[in-house]
Amino acid sequence: MDLNEKVEKSADFLLKLLGNQTPRSAMICGSGWAKVADELKIIQETSYDEIPALTNTQVEGHKSVLKIGETEKGLTLLFLGRRHYYEGEGWGSVIAPILLIHALGIEKLVLTNAAGGINEDFDVGDIMLLEDHINMMGNNPLIGGNIHPDIPRFPDQTNIYNSDLRNFVQAQALECNIKTKEGIYLAVSGPSFETPAEIRAFKKMGADAVGMSTVPEAIVANSLKMKICALSLISNQAAGKSPNELSHEEVSETASRILPKMKVLTNQILNSL
Ligand code: HPA
Repeated sequence: MDLNEKVEKSADFLLKLLGNQTPRSAMICGSGWAKVADELKIIQETSYDEIPALTNTQVEGHKSVLKIGETEKGLTLLFLGRRHYYEGEGWGSVIAPILLIHALGIEKLVLTNAAGGINEDFDVGDIMLLEDHINMMGNNPLIGGNIHPDIPRFPDQTNIYNSDLRNFVQAQALECNIKTKEGIYLAVSGPSFETPAEIRAFKKMGADAVGMSTVPEAIVANSLKMKICALSLISNQAAGKSPNELSHEEVSETASRILPKMKVLTNQILNSL
């Protein structure tokens, strides 16, 4: 079965769980973000094992569960666990959730991640709303044969993190008294963290934060005409900016500490989308 067939089967399976309702939004929960779902009213949940298009992640701190939440405006689909390019299985497993979200007719997407802070004004624990990105992964999920008939060969990316949605989310953050930063997310393939020289170079290129995800999903979702909002938890200072060695443990520790703020913000966003 190819990926598009698996996506179709998965959509049929999920439509039953959804009682044939199209959710208002979907959210992909990156490192440390899965627990934000605890705050929402969850009406159904299922393991990725049950969904033909989805595969379990091996990364610590990532689960592999899909939850259906009920918000003030309707249903939302929460993907707790994401696959990364550095896991070495190519793009299919990374972009499958986006194809599935599209197949279900969902038009608004919230992407979340943890990132290293490059901008001098960013503190560990800040939340950055992505204004734009720089793709330094050395690859692009659309390379090769057209992965979906709705994706043009040369998709425009001018307003990839939709500016109206971004302004709306900024207003929602203000409403719950949360200060957010805005900036440019630079994506690398990982899994090694960056060197201090790379971070100095990325700073000169205009990057405010660096991470190993989000960009492939955003490229595919934008090409499928979804409206995207993306949030980075600044989980650590990027390489060379602090005397500490970088570690996944630091990323997880920051996420646990900042979780209350992440919960309030995401719930406010999902309830108003
Ligand atoms: N670099 C790359 N990815 C990351 C980082 C980082 O410093 N922090 C969290 N994800």
